[in-house]
Amino acid sequence: MPHADSALVPETITNKAEFWAHTYSQLDALLDPDQRNWVTNLSNASSLIYNSLLVFPTHFGNGQRAVNWCGFYLDSHLFPQPSNGSSKSASSRLLLGPFNGKPACQYINTAPGKARGVCADGFFQRRTIVVSDVEAYPGHIACDGETKSEIVCPLILPSPSGGDPAHRVLGVLDLDCLAVEAFDDEDKAGLEKIAALLVKACDW
Ligand code: SME
Repeated sequence: MPHADSALVPETITNKAEFWAHTYSQLDALLDPDQRNWVTNLSNASSLIYNSLLVFPTHFGNGQRAVNWCGFYLDSHLFPQPSNGSSKSASSRLLLGPFNGKPACQYINTAPGKARGVCADGFFQRRTIVVSDVEAYPGHIACDGETKSEIVCPLILPSPSGGDPAHRVLGVLDLDCLAVEAFDDEDKAGLEKIAALLVKACDW
C-alpha cells in the first residue's frame, strides 16, 4: 500500500472510537521497528492524524473541518543546549516539532513563572487537557486566531522500573479545531493511546 493511503478512512467507520482505533492501527503499521528516529516518526504521525481527521469530519467540529492543526511541541532539554551564553531559563521551552497545518509558534516558554497556555499546562500537569472554547481558557496562546477548540496530550516516558517518580514528560501532542467543543473524552482516550505508542516507538 502506498504510504499516503494510510490516511484513508473507510466509510464503515462512523464514530470516534472506531476512528481512533483505525488511526492507531494505521500508525502502528507505518512505524518501522528498525527506524526509531523521533523526527521521522512524529512527522508521519502528525500527517496521519491531520489527514485522517480531514476526511472524517462528520463527528467532529459540528460539521466543520475536524482539524485546523496537529503537531508536537517537545521539551528543549531533549536537545543540545546552546553554547552562546544564553541563560538557562531561555532554554526552558517547548520547541515546535513535526506538525501539519499552518505555521505556528516556534516555542512555548516553560521557564518558572513564565509558562502559560494549554501546551505548557498539559506538559506540567502531565495530563490531557480538553479545551472546548479557547477564548475562555486562561493563558491560551493563539497561534491561529481561527482556532476555537483544542486538545493537548502529554508524551510520557515511563521510568524503566515502572515507578512513578522517574517518569518524564517529553513534550505534547496538540490538536486544534475551527469549531468550539470539537474534542471530548473519546479523543482523549484515542490520543493517549497514540502518544504511548509513539513514545515506545522512538529513541529519546
Ligand atoms: N494554543 C497553544 C499553542 C500552540 S498552537 O495551538 C499550535 C497553547 O495555548 O499552548
